[in-house]
Amino acid sequence: MSHWHLETLGIHAGQSHDPQTGSATVPLYMTAAYQFESPEQAAALFELREFGNIYTRITNPTTAVFEQRMAAIEGGAAALAVSSGSSAILLTVLNLTNPGDEIVSANNLYGGTYQLFTNVLPMLGRSARFVDPADPENFRKAITDKTKALYVETIGNPALFIPDFEAIAAIAREAGVPLVADNTVAAGLFRPLEYGADIAVLSATKYVGGHGRAVGGVIVESGKFHWNEKFPMFRNPEPSYHGLVYQDAFGNMDGANIAFMVRARTIFLRDMGMAISPFNSWLFLQGLETLALRMREHSANALTIARGLAENSLVEWVNYPGLPGHPAHERALRYMPRGQSGLLGFAIRGDGKKFIGNLKLLKHMVNIGDVRTIVTHPASTTHQQMSPEDRHKAGIDDNYIRLSVGLENTDDVLADIEQALQ
Ligand SMILES: Cc1ncc(COP(=O)(O)O)c(C=O)c1O
Repeated sequence: MSHWHLETLGIHAGQSHDPQTGSATVPLYMTAAYQFESPEQAAALFELREFGNIYTRITNPTTAVFEQRMAAIEGGAAALAVSSGSSAILLTVLNLTNPGDEIVSANNLYGGTYQLFTNVLPMLGRSARFVDPADPENFRKAITDKTKALYVETIGNPALFIPDFEAIAAIAREAGVPLVADNTVAAGLFRPLEYGADIAVLSATKYVGGHGRAVGGVIVESGKFHWNEKFPMFRNPEPSYHGLVYQDAFGNMDGANIAFMVRARTIFLRDMGMAISPFNSWLFLQGLETLALRMREHSANALTIARGLAENSLVEWVNYPGLPGHPAHERALRYMPRGQSGLLGFAIRGDGKKFIGNLKLLKHMVNIGDVRTIVTHPASTTHQQMSPEDRHKAGIDDNYIRLSVGLENTDDVLADIEQALQ
């Protein structure tokens, strides 16, 4: 399976022949719980001596196919699907830290993640230090004894910065901590785990589904990180599993260390309950079947729109990593040669909010990665709660208009933009 290409993985990975029905597509198992074969089997499942289905808060057969398919697409060893991209990020940070610990994060993040790191982590005894990712050395300078992870977005939403992954991963390795990369915007175009990241998190709500019909998230683990003494939670006996040591039990599953993922599922999903609905997993599986071809088309359309905007005298500037002159253009082509995804930013010579109000075809919403082209004004919506200074540092001034370019004909999209500008 690992030798298959992305197009093939999106259609087949994680699915095996269904001996009972022969169903060609992945069945939807809408069940909350599973009947045990025997009292002995029930006990074995609860002691983690046997892997199997107990209750849909922890596992589900439809979700399991979605998880395995995502692990294959991201080139990882194991995956965990959860209720949203935000819960994937929260669960990842909670699983890597104890109260008092810190993470060092790029400062140009999706607004919700920025708020999570700034306001919610301190409520839980954790904190984040923000750095400008343009210089990887900034991460090294911010690392302390308490640092337990470095965090970046592969294409930052919405400033569209692409970091130097190898350099940041090398700094994480030296510090003995994992690099976590949010690959929401570059799903199907880039595999952060192949460039030194240890954990990928994704909002499946966006390009993974592609249809804008469901909210969900995924965490994928490379299986290569060895949990050193900075991470006692994987090395010390776990009281809620009768002294189980995660790294001893799951540190070498067919050569992969999946201690992080088993702990995430058995402690956090089991006890905090941010489970995904099997129906949403099933909807995301429909999306994955066309991920590779959609991402090519989203990227090609975004490049066409970016070029069209760049030539328009009513447009002040355009921000798209696929355009020469973008600060991350060289890395965009090197890391994402098949395309640089569907997000672009621009500013007009005039009132941006009035322009948005004039659009007829484009939808004014706060989602991305949909087949529909979406326009957003981040400063007044997704990034409203940031201070103007922090917004400026993150590359989102008041005139920033974000487009998530969909799969409509680009002539129609450009015509709608032109009539709204006029
Ligand atoms: C880059 C990025 N990560 C995470 C999220 C959060 O995902 P969700 O909305 O599925 O919770 C978003 C949502 O916009 C996002 O853009």
